[in-house]
Order: sequence, then structure tokens, then C-alpha cells
Amino acid sequence: MRASVMMSSGVEVGGLSSIGMGAEEPSVGISAAFRADTHEMKLDLGLGSYRTEDLQPYVLNVVNKAEKLMLERCEDKEYLPIEGLAAFNKATAELLFGADSAVIQQQRVATVQGISGTGSLRLAAALIHRHFPASKILLSSPTWGNHPNILNDARLPWSEYRYYDPETVGLDFQGMISDIKAAPEGSFVLLHGCAHNPTGIDPTPEQWEIIADVIQEKKHIPLFDVVYQGYASGRVEADASSVRLFAARGMELLVAQSYSKNMGLYAERIGAINVVCSSPDSAKRVKSQLKRLARAMYSNPPVHGARIVANVVGIQIFSVSGKRSWEENMRKKWYVYMTKDGKNGLNWSISSQV
Ligand SMILES: Cc1ncc(COP(=O)(O)O)c(C=O)c1O
Repeated sequence: MRASVMMSSGVEVGGLSSIGMGAEEPSVGISAAFRADTHEMKLDLGLGSYRTEDLQPYVLNVVNKAEKLMLERCEDKEYLPIEGLAAFNKATAELLFGADSAVIQQQRVATVQGISGTGSLRLAAALIHRHFPASKILLSSPTWGNHPNILNDARLPWSEYRYYDPETVGLDFQGMISDIKAAPEGSFVLLHGCAHNPTGIDPTPEQWEIIADVIQEKKHIPLFDVVYQGYASGRVEADASSVRLFAARGMELLVAQSYSKNMGLYAERIGAINVVCSSPDSAKRVKSQLKRLARAMYSNPPVHGARIVANVVGIQIFSVSGKRSWEENMRKKWYVYMTKDGKNGLNWSISSQV
């Protein structure tokens, strides 16, 4: 017999058994199909994670070193503050904007540790929904499959701007610009900082300047998703150039970061949301609002991944040579990840895909 509950509205509805089946996440289906396939040349493109030559999970050496150090220090398991680990927040904002950048020097960045890239985007979406409920978000067509999910759950309306041109296997730059121009003034524009997923096509530096011009003219606010810092060029600094270009113009912007990919810390769920504001005072207010949202969603973030990143990026225990080895690792392992000989079926001579 089905239980029934009386809602306060007085409408009688079914109990928990009335909940229908949720749609399966598409990438789960791809991985299942991969496991079932017996072809010896098969490649799993369902999940983006490092693998060894034998297709086994791989942990970066710098991560192993940082964890060893953390064990030796016998670090505690106290709650972190709502905004996360201070050393992590400092390191992550500096990696993104540059320690000497005006936005860091002038204390105009509100950084809050997030639950990796997804959770940081979700926090950004919650902030936008709470303070700009009528705003619209523009997404590239195509984009990472979870972007629409995140925005839908945050009750944010979105539409698409043209991005991929199948004719040229490149960027539909004119389409992108005219769609961003046509959006209502003050919209949020979601941009992939580098290594656009799923196309692998990034604007050139000149195109980024024009994108920034249009966004500035229309008083839009960019929301960058930076998950692959280091993957596009093999250099973490160079891969932040799109974000840095916008920040150097004095624009307000939001940037969600993740260390799932570039440090292989998938299950640690470590990332951040950074909001570049027009003044230090505004940054303080924005941070206080992000903390209110985080407190209600998950109270405070996990510590382990934050310490790993702070140890690798922040304290620079591995110094310049350590960073170089991290970048080297990223380049090599990504290469292996794509295929054994580093090639796939695309025509690289006509494509600017990374
Ligand atoms: C473009 C993009 N954004 C965000 C994410 C979120 O990654 P995570 O939540 O694991 O940090 C991914 C993961 O594949 C991605 O490709």
C-alpha cells in the first residue's frame, strides 16, 4: 500500500514511492560500453582522467610527495573555516591571476574554496541567482554537459552562443561575437578559460581581446570555468592568460577553478570560486555572501586536497623545478591519455584544437 502525506497546501500526494527514476548520466553509459567492448584498441573517452600505459589510475609524483610531507607533519582534522584553507585560497588565486597582478595586490579578489570545479560553479550560480535573479547566462554551443544541469538546479535561465564550426573544425568566431552582442545587457557569459571542453578549440589571444571588448561594451559579466590550467599549452601561467586579460582591464568577473585534472585530484573535490570585484570593500562583501551560501549548502569544505594543492602550488616546497615537473607530468600524461602515440583521428593541420 502506498503511504501518502498531506502537504501544508492541503494537496494529498504520494510518499517517497511516487519519486520517478532519474535519467542516467550519459558518461556512465559510455564507460559501461567501454568495459563491455572487447576491441584491443579501445579507448575510454567517457571520463577525463590520467591513466598509465596499462590503463590504470595514476597519481602524480608531486601529489605523493605532498601527502608524505602531510603525514610526517601529523596534521589535524579540525573543521576548516567556511571559506576554506587560507594557504590554499592564497595559492589558488595567485596561480590564476599572478601574485603580482593588480587584482591580488589591491585585494579585489574574493576567493572561497569550493567542492572542486562543479561545486565552485554551483556556488557561483547560487550567488548569481541570489543577487541577480533576473539575469540570463550564456553558454557555448556545445559546452560541458554538466553546465546546463548546474544552472537548471540553481534556477538560472540560460541560452547558447555559437562556438563550434564543423566546417572548419574551428571556432565560429563571428557567430560567437554576434550572439554575445545580441544578449540582454548585463548577462553572464560562461567562458572556458582554456582547453574548451568538449571541442578543444580556444580563441586566439587576438580573439580574446575582441571577446573582452564586446563583453565590456554590453556590461556583461564573464564567468570563467578553468579546469584545465596547464593542459592547453603545458604551462600553467600561459593557460591563465584569458582570465588575466579580462582582469587586467579592470573588469568584474567570476572564475571557478578545479584541481581534478591538472593535479589528478578527482576524488579530493578541490577547487575554488574567485570573484574579481571593483574594490577591496566590494570583494569583502561578495566573500561574506559566498560564505553564507556555502554554510547552508555544505557548511565548510574538506581539507585534504586543499593541503595537497597548497603544498604543491603555494608553499613552493617544490620550488620552480617542482612546478616544472608538475607541468612536465601534465604534458606527458595528457599525451598518453589521448592515445598511446599521442594522435587521434582529427586533422590537426586544419584544426587549432588543443
Ligand atoms: C569544462 C569542465 N568544467 C568543470 C568540470 C568539473 O570538474 P570537477 O568537478 O571534477 O572539478 C569538468 C570536468 O570534466 C569540465 O570538463
